[in-house]
Parts: sequence; structure tokens; C-alpha cells
Amino acid sequence: MENITFYNGNEMPIVGLGTFRVENNDECAASVKHAIESGYTHIDTAMIYENEDKVGQGIAEGLASTGLKRSDLFITSKLWLEDYGRQNVANAYETSLNKLGLDYLDLYLMHWPGTDEALMIDTWQGMEDLYKNDKVKNIGVSNFNVEHLEALLAQVSIKPVINQVEFHPYLLQSSLNRYLEVQNIHMESWSPLMNAQILEDETVNEVANEVGKSPAQVIIRWNIEHGVVVIPKSVTPSRIEENIDVFDFALTAEQIEKLDNLNEERRIGPDPAKYSGH
Ligand SMILES: NC(=O)c1ccc[n+]([C@@H]2O[C@H](COP(=O)([O-])OP(=O)(O)OC[C@H]3O[C@@H](n4cnc5c(N)ncnc54)[C@H](OP(=O)(O)O)[C@@H]3O)[C@@H](O)[C@H]2O)c1
Repeated sequence: MENITFYNGNEMPIVGLGTFRVENNDECAASVKHAIESGYTHIDTAMIYENEDKVGQGIAEGLASTGLKRSDLFITSKLWLEDYGRQNVANAYETSLNKLGLDYLDLYLMHWPGTDEALMIDTWQGMEDLYKNDKVKNIGVSNFNVEHLEALLAQVSIKPVINQVEFHPYLLQSSLNRYLEVQNIHMESWSPLMNAQILEDETVNEVANEVGKSPAQVIIRWNIEHGVVVIPKSVTPSRIEENIDVFDFALTAEQIEKLDNLNEERRIGPDPAKYSGH
């Protein structure tokens, strides 16, 4: 597994397992366990996915069956908008830890910027409190655009290590990506497979034929070639294995460009400038 390195020196595995729309049931625990057994060391969840219990169970079972230690894993969860406000962050964090059965997270993200800038900044200060008190290894944001980041960086003392945003060949996020590079903040992609829609694309399938890999593997590799952390979601054991089997091939500059050229600024998720959680 390849890692990226944050500006604070900490590392994060470049591929992880997504768990959005995975119900809090045995299938959830089984898929997390299967991922750990298949070589994943990085799992992404969120309070709002309402599955932190079963994700936690899967983590515990995966550790038990592989003999890995908690410190071998990288676990992310996210603070939901209803818990925004500096004084609410520590409680929300503890609630997530309790559900997951963990005593720390590797990464805690503000899930969305929201539409109230003062509240966004105040909430980030609560995230900084957690970090300064050594409760969490790293703090970051999700769904922040350049304007949100400019406002944040002008008013706070600790930079986010990463920004988790919608990213796939139909939504290239070039200006955001350039801004993050300059700031030395990493990018992480959510819905990298566009919820499976991008797997039907003709160009993606052409490249897949050229390299002898599946369309999903091509998209995951394309993220890696861009240095973007990628968290494909699957509850299907064979796909969980397929999605991490992406380190024995590379895309050529020409193939990367072909995929980049599919960009049409098309989102499947909400517009971060407008989304307030409803
Ligand atoms: N920060 C945010 O606001 C935000 C928003 C959305 C998502 N996320 C995170 O990003 C993760 C990934 O995004 P996502 O869950 O929306 O969608 P995704 O990973 O783009 O796509 C998941 C879909 O693709 C299918 N799939 C997975 N691997 C496949 C393969 N190898 N071949 C064919 N189909 C495959 C899955 O089916 P099966 O499961 O049935 O196998 C599922 O239907 C989430 O789970 C979550 O952790 C974050």
C-alpha cells in the first residue's frame, strides 16, 4: 500500500474503503472485516452514515483475524452539521469514538462547510482543540471549495491536512486541486466511481482494455496517478479485493490525459456553496 504524507509528517494510505449508504448491519461489519483481511488499512465512515457501530465491529473482527494492531489502521470519521459550534465538537467526537469502539481517530473531518462562515470558523476551532489536546491524529475538511478554504486559512492557526471532495473524470476540480497543492493540503476523492456510473463510460472502458484491468481499477489508479486519496465503497467481497489490486500497473500520460478530458464539471452530489444539510 502506498501512503501520502501530510504537512505535519503523518501518513495516510492512498486507498481506503468507503462506507456511505452501507446499513448498520452484519453486511457492514463483514465488508469492513473482509477489507482488512484483503489488505486495506484505511476505512472511511461518518456519524451521518449511522453505521459507526458496525464499522467498529468490522474493525475489531478484522484486527482479530489478521493479528494487525490498531496502530496499523487509519480510521476516518466526520463531524455532522448538527454538531457544529466549537463547544459541541468534543462531545460529537467522543460519541463517534464510542460507537466505533476506538480511543482515537486518525482523521476527523468537518463534513461540509455549511452556509454560515462564522459557524464554520468557530467549529474548526473546536477541531483544533481536539488536535492540540492530542485526542485526534489529524484534522481535515470535506466539501470545502477555494472560497471556504481562503476564509478558513485567513482566520485559523492550524491548516486542515486534507479536503475530501467529489472527484472523478467528469468533475476534475482543477482549480481546487491547484489551490490545495499550493497550500500543501491533500485532496481525497469521494464517489470516485460516481456511484458506479463512470464504469459505463466508453473511454474508461477503452483504457481498461488497453491495460487489462477493470474500469473501477482504472479509475482508482487514475486517482493515485493524480496523488489523490481514494475511498471506493463496496460491500461485495470480490469488488473489495479488486479495488485494492491497483498497485501492479500504471497509466501512461496519454491515458491520464484522455480521462482528464472527460471533464464536464458534472456533480452527482450537492453544491458545497449552497448545502446546509437538508
Ligand atoms: N464527504 C462526503 O460528503 C462524502 C460523500 C459521498 C461519499 N463519501 C465517501 O466516499 C465513499 C465512496 O463514495 P460512494 O459510496 O458514494 O460511491 P462510489 O465508491 O463512487 O461507488 C460505489 C458503488 O460502486 C459499486 N462498485 C464498487 N466497486 C466496484 C467494482 N469494482 N465494480 C463495479 N461496481 C463497483 C458499489 O457496489 P457494491 O457496494 O454493491 O459492490 C457501489 O454501488 C463513500 O462510501 C463515503 O465513505 C463522502
